[in-house]
Amino acid sequence: MRKEGGVTSVSLSYGCFEMKPFIATLLVLTLLMVVWQLPPPAGTLPATVTRPPEKKLSTPKPKPMRIQSPPDPNKRAFVPYGNAAALFVQMGAYRGGPYTFAVVGLASKPIHVFGRPWFKCEWVPNSPSPSANRTFKAKAFKMLPDWGYGRVYTVVVVNCTFSELPNADNAGGKLLLYAYYGESPRRYEKIVALEEAPGSYNESHFRPPYKYEYLYCGSSLYGNLSAPRIREWIAYHAHFFGRSSHFVFHDAGGVGPEVRAVLEPWIRAGRVTLQDIRGQAEYDGYYYNQFLVVNDCLHRYRHAANWTFYFDVDEYIYLPEGNTLESVLTEFSDYTQFTIEQNPMSSKLCLKEEAQNFSSQWGFEKLVFRESRTGIRRDRKYAIQAKNAYATGVHMSENVIGKTLHKTETKIRYYHYHNSITVPGEPCRELIPMPKKGGLTWYEKLPYVYDGNMKAVAETVKRFERETIGNVHV
Ligand SMILES: *[C@@H]1O[C@H](CO)[C@@H](O)[C@H](O)[C@H]1NC(C)=O
Ligand SMILES: *[C@@H]1O[C@H](CO)[C@@H](O)[C@H](O)[C@H]1NC(C)=O
Ligand SMILES: *[C@@H]1O[C@H](CO)[C@@H](O)[C@H](O)[C@H]1NC(C)=O
Ligand SMILES: *[C@@H]1O[C@H](CO)[C@@H](O)[C@H](O)[C@H]1NC(C)=O
Ligand SMILES: *[C@@H]1O[C@H](CO)[C@@H](O)[C@H](O)[C@H]1NC(C)=O
Ligand SMILES: *[C@@H]1O[C@H](CO)[C@@H](O)[C@H](O)[C@H]1NC(C)=O
Repeated sequence: MRKEGGVTSVSLSYGCFEMKPFIATLLVLTLLMVVWQLPPPAGTLPATVTRPPEKKLSTPKPKPMRIQSPPDPNKRAFVPYGNAAALFVQMGAYRGGPYTFAVVGLASKPIHVFGRPWFKCEWVPNSPSPSANRTFKAKAFKMLPDWGYGRVYTVVVVNCTFSELPNADNAGGKLLLYAYYGESPRRYEKIVALEEAPGSYNESHFRPPYKYEYLYCGSSLYGNLSAPRIREWIAYHAHFFGRSSHFVFHDAGGVGPEVRAVLEPWIRAGRVTLQDIRGQAEYDGYYYNQFLVVNDCLHRYRHAANWTFYFDVDEYIYLPEGNTLESVLTEFSDYTQFTIEQNPMSSKLCLKEEAQNFSSQWGFEKLVFRESRTGIRRDRKYAIQAKNAYATGVHMSENVIGKTLHKTETKIRYYHYHNSITVPGEPCRELIPMPKKGGLTWYEKLPYVYDGNMKAVAETVKRFERETIGNVHV
């Protein structure tokens, strides 16, 4: 129930009926006149009319007849208090091309599951010439990309695509989003989703070449993350993806002072952006709102890079022998997205023979045992050409144009050190001898093989880190 609507009509029928019918009638008449003079709701207007703010539009018209008759003792009142879930919680709004925008946020899940809410978009220009200063509208389409995992809130991506070019004269303007409560066009909220400053529109930003070749969109970081593990992860991937890459992290409370300290030099070097999203805790979505965060990142950086990667900070992308990142991605360039298979690694088992060197070794240098069962369904991660995506998920996107490739395991994989990222201190907790060549080691009823691929690049990565950001003290 909208606050204004509820409050207005309640106070009218009470005060008026009991005390001063005359004043009441006067009040009602005044109100009616005000309502009369307000323009009709958005949907009924021709597209070229500009309108003043219309917050009060959905106020129900008071019914003067009821004031004269005594209240029906059998008519029960339903009196709402408070507000359990917002209609829409905006996280970001981005221009995704000359004609198109995306607004990314959360919305009350029951409204979207049981109701039929919808959205509409409007562009309001700042044009100094009255002839060009006309608004135009577009019907929006919405996507709910969180697979129904949301709780009180679900993730909503609203796509606004206009048939005219917004901000064509570059005098600036606003994108308005109308969020409706249900099927009825009469109840809605009007949101200024985005403002474009004069001179800020540049069509070339939506065409290649992009600023980066590779962008990393991290999902929500939470828990007490291990600073050494984050240090190793960023050094490894800054080296792996090369100079034309950028990393975006989202701190949902996981970035403590030590983790911040290891990221700081990379932020200064322009390789990393750290976003503080701790405010998300107010909104009960799925798991630190990770679906919200990946969609915000998708649209915020939609035209920032050829390829956008989605994986976690306990995962390391790896190219099997003979592949380079460039050769693999050139081969995949006809696909909008590809998924990546994992090498599941133990985050406890280390080589007994190296025990005296553990203190100087990095996590991926000493966690060298890979769980070797095959034919098991395991989570995958993915990369996407963001310009072809409308919304995305944690393991892949289901809202894309173009093809998806899954058969990638001989070209690109990732090492997954599950549960290693919040372990304080020494990760090696079980020391086992080197298995005979090709041999298996059983641990907690699972077979492991020795896998030294990551260990083999450790020295190179350490040197790269020294050369890029200098000596690090963790
Ligand atoms: C253009 O129209 C909008 C919406 O009616 C108005 O807010 C704005 O002031 C106008 N701009 C100019 C320069 O007249
Ligand atoms: C638009 O952006 C491109 C690339 O960033 C730049 O070279 C060009 O000068 C910009 N054009 C205008 C009109 O600002
Ligand atoms: C990225 O796109 C640019 C311009 O289209 C192209 O020259 C370059 O080879 C691409 N790089 C990768 C890794 O796909
Ligand atoms: C331990 O590290 C030292 C110096 O880095 C190296 O020379 C030695 O071979 C390592 N020992 C083992 C068992 O790997
Ligand atoms: C919105 O959807 C259209 C297809 O209807 C697509 O071309 C456009 O790229 C999408 N925009 C965004 C920002 O995702
Ligand atoms: C987080 O981990 C660090 C390093 O292991 C430790 O010093 C700190 O006390 C931990 N903080 C919390 C809140 O557990």
